[in-house]
Amino acid sequence: MQRKSTFKIFVLFTIVLVNTGFLFGQNWVVPAEKKAKASPFLFTEVTSKQGEAVYTKNCQSCHGNPGKDNALKSLTPQPPDPAADKMQKNTDGEIFYKISEGKAIMPSFKNILSETDRWDIISYIRSFNKSYTQAAINTNASTSSPVKIRVKFDSITKKLIFSAKKATKKDSVPVVDAETEIFVMRYFGNMQLDSSQQTNDSGIVAFSIPEKLPGDSTGFLKIIVKMNDDATGEKSDTFKLKIGVPTIVPGLTANRAMWNVVSKSPVWLLATYFSILLGVWVFLIYVITRLVKLKKLGKETK
Ligand code: HEC
Repeated sequence: MQRKSTFKIFVLFTIVLVNTGFLFGQNWVVPAEKKAKASPFLFTEVTSKQGEAVYTKNCQSCHGNPGKDNALKSLTPQPPDPAADKMQKNTDGEIFYKISEGKAIMPSFKNILSETDRWDIISYIRSFNKSYTQAAINTNASTSSPVKIRVKFDSITKKLIFSAKKATKKDSVPVVDAETEIFVMRYFGNMQLDSSQQTNDSGIVAFSIPEKLPGDSTGFLKIIVKMNDDATGEKSDTFKLKIGVPTIVPGLTANRAMWNVVSKSPVWLLATYFSILLGVWVFLIYVITRLVKLKKLGKETK
């Protein structure tokens, strides 16, 4: 009996070890076409300085100061020091992919940092590698690319139809195979709707929109679309569409609440306050009348 349970524990322990090893120890494989992706601009001291600011805010807490070997040691796997070989032997495209997608503890930054921010960070990381030379610059990608994004709601299929076209000298061509995402603007940040999808041969994606999304008082929603195409770079646009349910949100100060001014504070709060105030005064008056009485008594007995 004793032996059997020891054996069971041993087996369980091995399974856990092997599995965590498998999950975390696995090599981080980057798709071949992403490996070769290059920055749209030349890395300079200026871009590296900009990257440093973004790095300090978003990455330093885990990865430490590059070259100082002070990354967070309590994580498994450990976040590598950006100046160390483990990081530096990646291609620019690989680092870009890893920052964008994340893995396990390493967060995904594609919806947090713009492409420019991510390339600036790489520029900063590379400044700690004396033997690094920038292999290539992706000159196709220009942020001012003449891409036209359109969005319309199909009330029959209840889908949001997204289309992207790139202007050429003569006419315009669809942007094919570009990763596209949509978000709706909420109080605290953007909420993603539907999963990310690739544009088809006509540059079109149909997104499903959840029914009964609360909109503003007239049903308008602010929709943000983001498109990411290797050739043209990142493009984002905001549209106001009447596809939500009209919602009247009472203002934070509309009702009686703790944080409101006197005329709107909760009744129980006012009642408590005034009864304590009254109690104190009653007590004081009582004490005074007693004192007066005491004095009178003193006089009488004299
Ligand atoms: C919450 C902690 C955390 C934060 C914040 C974080 N990382 Fe990481 N990062 C990790 C961990 C852990 C790994 C190791 C992942 C692995 O190997 O499976 C990692 C791995 C990486 C890698 C891959 C290195 C390699 O071995 O190929 C890169 C590149 C990277 N991080 C860059 C960044 C950048 C740039 C930022 C900021 C924008 C950032 N990380 C923010 C924890 C973090």
